[in-house]
Amino acid sequence: MTKSAPGKPGSLSIQHLPGLRGVPKSDLEAILDTAQSFRESLDEGSAVPKTLSGVSVVNLFFENSTRTRLSFETAQKRLGASPMNFTASSSSAAKGESLRDTARNIESLGADVFVVRHSSAGVPAFLASQTKAVVVNAGDGACEHPTQGLLDALTMRQHLGSLEGKQVTIIGDIRHSRVARSNLWALSTLGASVRLWGPATLLPRHPEAFGSQVRVAKSLDDALEGSDAVMLLRIQHERQSSGLLPSLREYRHSFGLDRDRLRLAKPGALVLHPGPINRGVEIVSEIADGPQSVILEQVTNGVAVRMAVLHLLAGRNTNV
Ligand code: CP
Repeated sequence: MTKSAPGKPGSLSIQHLPGLRGVPKSDLEAILDTAQSFRESLDEGSAVPKTLSGVSVVNLFFENSTRTRLSFETAQKRLGASPMNFTASSSSAAKGESLRDTARNIESLGADVFVVRHSSAGVPAFLASQTKAVVVNAGDGACEHPTQGLLDALTMRQHLGSLEGKQVTIIGDIRHSRVARSNLWALSTLGASVRLWGPATLLPRHPEAFGSQVRVAKSLDDALEGSDAVMLLRIQHERQSSGLLPSLREYRHSFGLDRDRLRLAKPGALVLHPGPINRGVEIVSEIADGPQSVILEQVTNGVAVRMAVLHLLAGRNTNV
């Protein structure tokens, strides 16, 4: 089968990517198709169009990251950009410079694209309103992590085909998870059904907001039964008030994924985790490193998805 070409820069209906809420199915599919094309090129070692050549991309990270930051940087370099990296702790933000002033000063240095991670929800949308640069969210508070939602969808699509009618289970700290939110918006738009499970204190207060395909399960068995894919989330201590969990031991006992529990899902069901993993808490190592795990495939797909997003939103048409 011949590989499809990446989509054309400027062909999406959106100009920025603050989140996946409200992004039309046609845009989600265009990003996933382009990401799949880039993934195949990366696997083959074949050339990709250098559509970010001459585009000034700045990675604005106000929060720690391993996977997202390095994969954005890899994606930018693969597309021909020479990214600049901003780290809040070693910048003038640490002297009290406001977010708006920081962004407008960096824009004056010639930035065309901001990739931003911040602990406060809404920062990417705010920057999009304050600068002329294209803004891509790399995670904002407990709000959204759109490129993670896209790389999760790409990984599931590679194994399951169309997500229409597929059953996905998300277990863990859903209330504080931007990854869960972006997944819920994307999976609903792409036609999957989602069951949520975790301690009552860590479940969303209004699951109905994500649409009729999303529901809170009645039990762990109900959450897992017949699932095509099971996604585990870590407990986000950094975004929680204290006292939401009795103990990690109790959490593992009631909610941790092990071999017996995974048997409740469909045979061969995929196991996903956005990382970082707390081994022995939300998932045992035997499953995280086992044959059903696609956790490292998610990481590899992160480069292809971030290439697709940057190429489609900020790329320049090229004949190369
Ligand atoms: N999944 C994810 O966002 O990981 P990092 O925090 O390491 O970027």
